[in-house]
Amino acid sequence: MTGKFIVFDGLDGTGKSTFIKMLAEHLQDKGCKVSITAEPTKNKWGLLIREILSGVQKASQQEMAALFLADRIAHNEEIDELLQQGYIVLCDRYYYSSFAYQSDDETLSWIMDMNLNCPGIRVPDLCLLFDSEPELCLKRIKAGRSGQQLEIFENLKSLNAIREKFSKIEEMLNKSGRGENIVRIDSSPPLDEVFEVILNTVNSFLN
Ligand code: TMP
Repeated sequence: MTGKFIVFDGLDGTGKSTFIKMLAEHLQDKGCKVSITAEPTKNKWGLLIREILSGVQKASQQEMAALFLADRIAHNEEIDELLQQGYIVLCDRYYYSSFAYQSDDETLSWIMDMNLNCPGIRVPDLCLLFDSEPELCLKRIKAGRSGQQLEIFENLKSLNAIREKFSKIEEMLNKSGRGENIVRIDSSPPLDEVFEVILNTVNSFLN
């Protein structure tokens, strides 16, 4: 039996990582085999990307788009193996983030093209796209960071611009006829309410 590949993507501070853990527990309790993964990965490209995100190393957005692509190609080999073993793979971020974080008007089609037309990169079975007011996201990011330095995209100006791009990308991809299945989740309400929406969405997808 092959598994399912479900991506959680969207703005920083929308609670993706918390919801992934909650969903994993719920599915495991139902007897499903579940594996949690994330991008950037902890492999060689992912580690280099983390250094850039923290400001230790510098790179242009185009270089970043290429690094995320390399990380994603290597990651897909691991994902494929898990899917073949029947796992539901829950992935924290995927190519939607490259489209939203690395692109500008000039580079969006190039970044979409190299990801969507790469034979080593699969289309997720479902993408939950988390959205919230950037002010609320930033508040949550700061609360979870307890004095640690913020990463390069974790400021109001970037979050507003990225939010707009996520929205544009969602519309483009859902209309593209490429088999994308993107569902937007408003993560502003209290945790339990948002999780209820996630459960309804995932259960109706899996059944
Ligand atoms: P996170 O682990 O807190 O989600 O942080 C990952 C950061 O990496 C986040 O700011 C978004 C960024 N990112 C990109 O810029 N492009 C990508 O393709 C991916 C997967 C993540």
